[in-house]
Amino acid sequence: MVVILLGPPGVGKGTQGAFLAEDLGWVRIATGDLLRSARREGTALGKKAEEYMDAGELVPDDLIVALVRETLEGLDTDTGVLLDGFPRTVPQAIALEEMLPEVDRAVDAVLLLEAPDDVLMKRISGRRSCPESGRIYNVYFDPPKVEGICDDSGRPLLHREDDRPETVERRLEVYSELTEPLVDHYDASSTPVLRIQGDGELDEVRAAIRRALATELGVEVGSR
Ligand code: AP5
Repeated sequence: MVVILLGPPGVGKGTQGAFLAEDLGWVRIATGDLLRSARREGTALGKKAEEYMDAGELVPDDLIVALVRETLEGLDTDTGVLLDGFPRTVPQAIALEEMLPEVDRAVDAVLLLEAPDDVLMKRISGRRSCPESGRIYNVYFDPPKVEGICDDSGRPLLHREDDRPETVERRLEVYSELTEPLVDHYDASSTPVLRIQGDGELDEVRAAIRRALATELGVEVGSR
């Protein structure tokens, strides 16, 4: 199966995607995480992506499509896949539709997480993440046991460069200009779009996603 996690910056795609990947034993392909690790490693892709990311702009479609293709090609076809942060433009969605049959897959559903901008801004301002374990925290809603330190790796937590308020505003604009049209794209297709209210508490959103996947796709989350 392939499920796309769609929604604005800060809505909880990474957080809920990590829960789901663990509960289902699926692979989560998060293009933002892949790009951040390419930057840390100083690869050619990381260097090209840097200025777009720090300005809150999207990285060019061709670079992202090549990255996702390479990642998908390396996976066992039996493994379920959660796409987090991809596709993010209509051309990326079309490229995905062309590439999936080549790896014997198709998109089963889009999980659309939604929340108002003031909730997104508050969440992003409090976000801290661990570059080693990948775990995401929030100083207001989900803090680590020891301030500034990852519970799992013991490493210092980072505040993302693109989480500065002025960059977040641009990321929200880019979402509404380039990514929101994807909702119409999928609504007009045969792929079900499962709308989830993302502004509840962590466990409420997690439960809503489980219900939607069970009802719409027959996927029982938590049965593992
Ligand atoms: P990316 O890393 O994908 O960022 P994003 O989509 O902007 O999403 P975020 O990571 O900001 O938020 P999220 O929805 O994952 O929320 P999270 O779970 O962390 O992309 C970064 C950049 O990379 C892009 O700007 C672009 O430049 C580039 N890029 C990536 N993919 C690309 C593509 N396909 N094409 C082109 N460019 C691409 O949660 C946020 C915070 O809220 C956390 O602190 C969390 O603990 C907290 N939280 C979550 N849920 C709740 C809740 N229910 N209650 C309280 N707090 C909560």
